[in-house]
Amino acid sequence: MKANNKLLIALVGLPGSGKSTAGRQLARKLELPFFDSDSEIEVELGQTIQSFFAQNTEDVFRDVEEAVIERLTLELATGGILATGGGVVLRKNNRERLRSRAMVFYLRSTPRQLYKRLVHDTKRPLLQGGGVLEKLETMYSVRDPLYRDTADFTIDTAGMNLHMLVRRVLMQIELMH
Ligand code: S3P
Repeated sequence: MKANNKLLIALVGLPGSGKSTAGRQLARKLELPFFDSDSEIEVELGQTIQSFFAQNTEDVFRDVEEAVIERLTLELATGGILATGGGVVLRKNNRERLRSRAMVFYLRSTPRQLYKRLVHDTKRPLLQGGGVLEKLETMYSVRDPLYRDTADFTIDTAGMNLHMLVRRVLMQIELMH
């Protein structure tokens, strides 16, 4: 058995990088439970992230996110796929929990790639109010080092469709088990 044989697979990366879509497919193929931390946060809050942000600061959101990451990384220790919110790596506790409890994949996309997908998005509070490309660039410069620091593997998604991306992750998982 190789050193990295963790049963929980976590996906990190900027908003729109395909974490939830790829995660759902991976879970189907591997016959493992799938969880999306954003959906779990919404259940906990009893409202959408969007409406929560309208009444609360980002910091309060991060507290809820941190509690959800703590819970899910423990609950899925016996096997699962976890798609995380793009800002999950901003907190050291989350980075440490993901690193120690999961095999982490960073789905790396550039701001330019993501811009096309997100320019008309209305669901992500941190990307509203115009200047989407600039906002993505700022996010990328802050977060790219943190994603790299948290992840066991970085997958460059440029030129990859969903099918290729999922195959690439599956290949890596097979190699490690
Ligand atoms: C956020 C990304 C969102 C969600 C929240 C904050 C961020 O998740 O957690 O809106 O800070 O980048 P996605 O990455 O799934 O869009």
